[in-house]
Amino acid sequence: MTKTKEKIKNTIFISSGKGGVGKSTIAANLAVSLAKQGFNTGLLDTDFFGPSMPILFGLDNAYHKIYEEGKKELFIPISKNGVKIMSPGFLIKTKEGETQRIPVVKEAVRQIIQKTAWGNLDYLIIDMPACTGDLAVSIIKKFPKAQAILVTTPQQLSISGSRIAGNMYLKPKINIKILGIIENMSYFIPDNHPKEKHYIFGEGGGMELAREFQIPLLVKIPFSTELGHLNNQGQSVFLSINSTIKLKFRKLAEDINILMIDH
Ligand SMILES: Nc1ncnc2c1ncn2[C@@H]1O[C@H](COP(=O)(O)OP(=O)(O)OP(=O)(O)O)[C@@H](O)[C@H]1O
Ligand SMILES: [Mg+2]
Repeated sequence: MTKTKEKIKNTIFISSGKGGVGKSTIAANLAVSLAKQGFNTGLLDTDFFGPSMPILFGLDNAYHKIYEEGKKELFIPISKNGVKIMSPGFLIKTKEGETQRIPVVKEAVRQIIQKTAWGNLDYLIIDMPACTGDLAVSIIKKFPKAQAILVTTPQQLSISGSRIAGNMYLKPKINIKILGIIENMSYFIPDNHPKEKHYIFGEGGGMELAREFQIPLLVKIPFSTELGHLNNQGQSVFLSINSTIKLKFRKLAEDINILMIDH
């Protein structure tokens, strides 16, 4: 295992301006979906304040193995559901709940990015912090060829946050292409009334943002109590009995792959 010759073909930031809109859920299930389609896929969790990947993959007691190459130490990602996962949650200090100061976190992120032995990847999916501040920018700078996907719920608070994140990516100094918008929690379908769609958070927000940035609305993911339960149990969406949700993630991976080929 060595970093010297490894190649990452496509890197995608999963981003938003506000917290709790579903970035980690989408990053995790998109990564599994890409892996299921035969792509070598890595997943980088950049959330030092509340890493989600150990929970979303049912790896709460896992720790990264450290591989020593000469004088260098490399982190070996943990594989689950075909995805190579790297998370601060797999590092001992994060688990102990030490107070994290931003400069310390920035340095830890830098180390994680530099020291992870991914091997060759078709896709690296990066679960970004919910902000446009210093920390986000320092991560973005490490992946100048990456592209971004903006996640929003239909609510105006979330849309305005994602608009700010979108404008940050397009700044000349940053200059990251935005691939598209994902609208999460778009509507709710009651189990006992499967033909009904309830737009509990309003309608049209994702499309509004897509029009503004002139990029595609990639998918509308419904609010699904089953998806919430699967998250709690550390299981992927592909174990769902709800085929709509599975198909949404399968098609999302296919569409992203087409967009990346066209790029
Ligand atoms: N489509 C959905 N249906 C039902 N629950 C969802 C859906 N998407 C996400 N959730 C739930 O909403 C909560 C927030 O999701 P998640 O942690 O993925 O958001 P996030 O944007 O990564 O948050 P943060 O900014 O705090 O990192 C979680 O409890 C998750 O299980
Ligand atoms: Mg998250």
